[in-house]
Amino acid sequence: MAIYADYAATTPVKPQVIESMMRIYQTHFGNPSSIHTQGRDARHYLDSARRDVAKIINAEPSEIIFTSGATESNNTVIKGIAQANRQQGMHLVTTKIEHHSVLHVFEQLEREGFDVTYLDVDKSGIVDLHQLKQVLRDDTTLVSIMLVNNEVGTVQDIDTIQEIVAESNAYLHTDAVQAIGHLPIDVKELNVDALSLTAHKFGGPKGVGALYVKKNTVLRYQQQGGEQETKRRAGTENVPQIVGLAEAIKLADSERDANNIHVAQLKEQLLVGLQDRAIPFELNGSMVETTNHIVNLYFPFIDIETLLTLLDLAGVYVSSGSACTAGSTIPSHVLSAMYGEDDRVTHSVRISLNELMTTEDINQIIVEIQKIYLKFKKEEHS
Ligand SMILES: Cc1ncc(COP(=O)(O)O)c(C=O)c1O
Repeated sequence: MAIYADYAATTPVKPQVIESMMRIYQTHFGNPSSIHTQGRDARHYLDSARRDVAKIINAEPSEIIFTSGATESNNTVIKGIAQANRQQGMHLVTTKIEHHSVLHVFEQLEREGFDVTYLDVDKSGIVDLHQLKQVLRDDTTLVSIMLVNNEVGTVQDIDTIQEIVAESNAYLHTDAVQAIGHLPIDVKELNVDALSLTAHKFGGPKGVGALYVKKNTVLRYQQQGGEQETKRRAGTENVPQIVGLAEAIKLADSERDANNIHVAQLKEQLLVGLQDRAIPFELNGSMVETTNHIVNLYFPFIDIETLLTLLDLAGVYVSSGSACTAGSTIPSHVLSAMYGEDDRVTHSVRISLNELMTTEDINQIIVEIQKIYLKFKKEEHS
């Protein structure tokens, strides 16, 4: 039986989520902007989903904007803050290990005349906070640092980051896509001005996400048209998907502790199993400041493409890093930022776990990697 171990790329939609969405598709299908009863009925479900999402992350419902996913959330907030605060300053700060939906936006802003600092990370993938302190200027308007890295799972010290940023005039945004369902998310405790999330990483549907924007944040919204989302994101809201997102985030939150325990055990089993079979490997990233669902491993005996192909043939689905670059031979910008021009950049895979996986699944992954290793070892000696 095939084993899917690419849950950081996407997750299957949970049955309860499908059920909640089907109800909306079939019965409560009105346009939430229509003023008749059918429209008001859809509006009721939209408002209720907004309250649910806000409650889980400890925000106000009015601070939640529904989007088409984290790519849109990141684009909206980064361009929106940079452009609206142009008069205050043209300097922006992010890191070298962000998802492309953040990095490429900053690159575009550079082409538009903004000055962007890309912070370094250490070998664990931890952002250089000393450098952050040094680069902040009077004209810095935005700092965007992800909470959990999607390739190696490293968790940033957002407490210290927000303390440093609070000393400046800059807004703080975090891409929390890989944190939902793995870490408790409380925007007041995190003390961030904006946060992005997307449903398909925690058992919700693809193509729907949310952006938290703290009240009074000065931001130029990107999408013009109707007055939906209190004029901040034009376009008819996708109510079924939004209801699915709300159901998924509630489930992810309530099941988080139990899931984390199970996933930590799976990770331990994987690492110990590979060690016991004397398969050469090293863990990329932090041993401590990490979520357990992302395990990025360096296998010195084989390059990424060959390993991914052989595992795929054996029915084990893993990835080489972010899904957007999977299948291409472009070296991971995250591993490059962490290790420089190291063999690891071309010899590492991401195995990402989920509560749906069993100890048998992990055993099978270990067995298949061992088969590949033994084959390569034999060829090397023949
Ligand atoms: C850290 C991170 N940010 C943003 C995204 C983009 O999310 P979406 O697929 O909803 O556009 C992803 C998805 O891979 C991600 O892992």
